[in-house]
Amino acid sequence: MENEERWKRTHRCGDLTKKNKDQQITLVGWVASQRDHGGVIFIDLRDRWGITQVVFHPAQDESLIDQAKNLRMESVIGIQGKVVLRPANMVNKLLPTGEIEVTVSRLIVFNESKPLPFMIKDPCDAIDETRFKYRYLDLRRPQMQKNLFLRHRMAQIVRRYFDENEFVEIETPFLMKSTPEGARDYLVPSRIHQGRFYALPQSPQTYKQILMVSGFDRYFQIVRCFRDEDLRADRQPEFTQIDVEMSFVDEGDVMEVMEGLMVRLFKDVLGKSIHLPFCRIPYKEAMEKYGTDRPDIRFGLEIVGLDEIVANSGFHIFDETINQAGKVCGIRLPGVGPLSRKQVDEYTAFVKTFGAKGLVVIQITEEGIRSPIAKFVSDNTLQNIIMKLKGSVGDVIFIVAAESSVCLNALGNLRVQLAQDWNLINRNIFSLVWIVNFPLFEWSEVEGRFMARHHPFTSPKETDLDFLESDPEKVTAKAYDLVLNGSEIAGGSIRIHRRSLQKRLFETLGIDQATAERKFGFLMDALEYGAPPHGGIAFGFDRLVMLFAGEESIREVIAFPKTTRALSLMDGSPSEVDQEQLKELGLKLDLKDK
Ligand code: AMO
Repeated sequence: MENEERWKRTHRCGDLTKKNKDQQITLVGWVASQRDHGGVIFIDLRDRWGITQVVFHPAQDESLIDQAKNLRMESVIGIQGKVVLRPANMVNKLLPTGEIEVTVSRLIVFNESKPLPFMIKDPCDAIDETRFKYRYLDLRRPQMQKNLFLRHRMAQIVRRYFDENEFVEIETPFLMKSTPEGARDYLVPSRIHQGRFYALPQSPQTYKQILMVSGFDRYFQIVRCFRDEDLRADRQPEFTQIDVEMSFVDEGDVMEVMEGLMVRLFKDVLGKSIHLPFCRIPYKEAMEKYGTDRPDIRFGLEIVGLDEIVANSGFHIFDETINQAGKVCGIRLPGVGPLSRKQVDEYTAFVKTFGAKGLVVIQITEEGIRSPIAKFVSDNTLQNIIMKLKGSVGDVIFIVAAESSVCLNALGNLRVQLAQDWNLINRNIFSLVWIVNFPLFEWSEVEGRFMARHHPFTSPKETDLDFLESDPEKVTAKAYDLVLNGSEIAGGSIRIHRRSLQKRLFETLGIDQATAERKFGFLMDALEYGAPPHGGIAFGFDRLVMLFAGEESIREVIAFPKTTRALSLMDGSPSEVDQEQLKELGLKLDLKDK
């Protein structure tokens, strides 16, 4: 048995070039490939820094060749040998080490790998479940390594940026009192205080506000947040925020600092300059034009209201919708028509998944206008619709008539689907927009009360204060979201800094005084001891890295993500615990409903 301790590497696998010719070197790494060319064994040895070709010649001692032949893929080995130049016709220009190879004289196997569940290559051909179970193998893939290095670099740039701008990074507790951000809490039972629970932070919202009361003025933290909510491609139960809070600022001040951060990230990471200031779209306009408060504006296909044109058109679906205070809106797909019957049916089925009852299609062709509504509405109405949507030959117009939110949501989603299907998205563009002037409240049918659209600490605009009790829906928030290519990457607001206003807000939210006191008493108290006006924002760091990496899911930029059912397939969490542990916590399971 070789003495493993004597195997210190002299170089890394990406280091050696023709400058190292004839040197005796030691390399360690993983067997990335193994080829037998008429008895000569070639191995690609890989580490974090690169790949080096190492060669076993048959002239060498037989046991060495035997060992080399039997090496399994992804075993960890060490080799010693001499750097030699490759023959000119064998040079690999794609590798920094492509001009040399190492003639091996000694080999050590540190750890032999079992047969692999999947090959370590991009793209991975294993299903997600297998990738997550063997995440340590999946993370060896070049793409995953690249993504995690990118994440690291972005985190460093963020820290440097905030440090340069006099922000102080302060850690806040993970074991805390529940702070509502609209999701369920993850709870942690207390052993010392049986029957009581900590909540894992959905965000450090209350703490960062309290740090402003303490006079830190500019705070940031790259921090883990926990939310027990339905998961999607861009949602994880634990995720990372770049969390920021500032004192004596208005909305513009916070936005300006964040724009600076984005400029820095785009420049340093992607080498791209972006235009300042970012476009700002009021919430109402975003909803009306794009059917969503996180619009992707890399392409047109804007939604156009047709209510006035189709009112009293004689087509009963339009007329009824408008009589019931719904909306009739359309979008125009330019220049790709006419669509086939099958395509039209598919788009109709698509909008139905968003609650629309149907889709009216108007195809403008060389031969004239083709539409199932042509026999119900006058030529004049049809022409007016086309004019309003600026249609010309080759265009296809899609119309949805429905209750307002259904209509906008269906068309907003259709808009994105059409852009994808017809390749209308320029992937080289990054579009950044601020969505501003959000309503402070939204009505919840489920709860039967108003809910805070952001969180209950968001300040209303001063001009709307009078409507707080009388007409809450009219109240606009001092809130802003940042949207990158249709993905919400940040959200924040100016906060309430007076107890009296905070109390009024809780009342509108239907949170009685005793509950407010119990849940947020500490924050309300702090607002009575010299709380400065303040505001902030939080970025979804995972989403930001995902977009910079060009990935479709945040799981590709998180080392150990959970599945959409919140499972960690590698370590098997969540898992059952010993009776003893439950007893210590004073807990008894009641799983009858399971
Ligand atoms: P908000 O709830 O909007 O605001 O969260 C801020 C940003 O965090 C990201 N995000 C998520 N990313 C991955 N998985 C999730 N489950 C998830 N949930 C949210 C989004 C979002 O824009 N305290 C406030 C911020 C503030 O007002 O300062 C907050 O947490 O990109």
